[in-house]
Amino acid sequence: MDIEAIKKQIESDIQNISSSEGLEEARFKYLGRKGVLAQLTATIPSLPAQERAVFGQQANILKDKIANLILEKEKLFGSPASGAMQESVDIGMPGVSQEVGKLHPITRVIDEICNIFLRMGFQVVEGPEIETEYNNFSGLNIPLEHPSRDAFDTFYLKDYEKLLLRSHTSPVQVRAMKSRKPPLAIVVPGRVYRPDAVDASHLFMFNQIEGLMVDEGIKFSDLKGILEVFARSVFGEDIKMRFRPHFFPFTEPSAEVDISCIICKGRGCPVCGRKGWLEILGSGMIHPNVLRNVGYDTKKYSGFAFGMGIERIVMLKYGINDIRLFFENDLRFLRQF
Ligand code: PHE
Repeated sequence: MDIEAIKKQIESDIQNISSSEGLEEARFKYLGRKGVLAQLTATIPSLPAQERAVFGQQANILKDKIANLILEKEKLFGSPASGAMQESVDIGMPGVSQEVGKLHPITRVIDEICNIFLRMGFQVVEGPEIETEYNNFSGLNIPLEHPSRDAFDTFYLKDYEKLLLRSHTSPVQVRAMKSRKPPLAIVVPGRVYRPDAVDASHLFMFNQIEGLMVDEGIKFSDLKGILEVFARSVFGEDIKMRFRPHFFPFTEPSAEVDISCIICKGRGCPVCGRKGWLEILGSGMIHPNVLRNVGYDTKKYSGFAFGMGIERIVMLKYGINDIRLFFENDLRFLRQF
């Protein structure tokens, strides 16, 4: 086969190409898997042994030559691929903007509430979500027969009867009092777990903030004053508060705290069940049994504690009617905060 003749033919073919599409066709025709060059190389085994090496060499030289010719031509009008590349760099096009993330509404309100207490001299403390039965119940004076200790009302860890997912942030009271000495003023944000059926106002996981103050001579009026500063800061200066007698095993006396409805200002509406008041937290003076359990002298020290659900506060603050919205990761919801 006359390689020289083939070379001449191909050279003039390529010279005559006038578009990048034609160039692609030529590349396919000459250098493709079944192209002219591949066919030439395929004949090598059938050649006389002494001609094979020379022929192979010439075929390789020809291959390079064609590749170069195509490359040269390509520079004249650009290959289809590089053409597309050039068009994609349109300096007149607006850039791809990077979206800036922000804090989840729950996190924001936790920060906001912690900051209010930090300004009053409290420290922020955290505790583990997996707790001992002692810290979650016994240490807090919650008796064995209390329904919340039931396996159906609490997530116990399989194979570890004495470990559970804490059902409130109150066990951190026990931890903090055991590891520190009064005076003590802490707030404790964190997740808690209860096997509640999920609906618009219940989830099996939610967030609480616990508060605790212990020192000599702490009185119920201190609790009232601190909580009033908190409620005014979160809900506004004209908010009213009311303390309703209640029962918690770990506080005595105990009170549930209501604020005047932020929607109807106390006149009565669907949000407050026409009562004019919204319950926001549980509180009370720390029960002497709890102080004794952590080794504090009940003659010398007294204190108060309170606990609130964060989701409920965020829902009231922003008028959100379904707790599930917080955890569905729907950006249309999250972007509003
Ligand atoms: N731990 C209680 C609850 O989860 C709230 C509470 C905390 C009440 C501290 C009184 C004192 O319902």
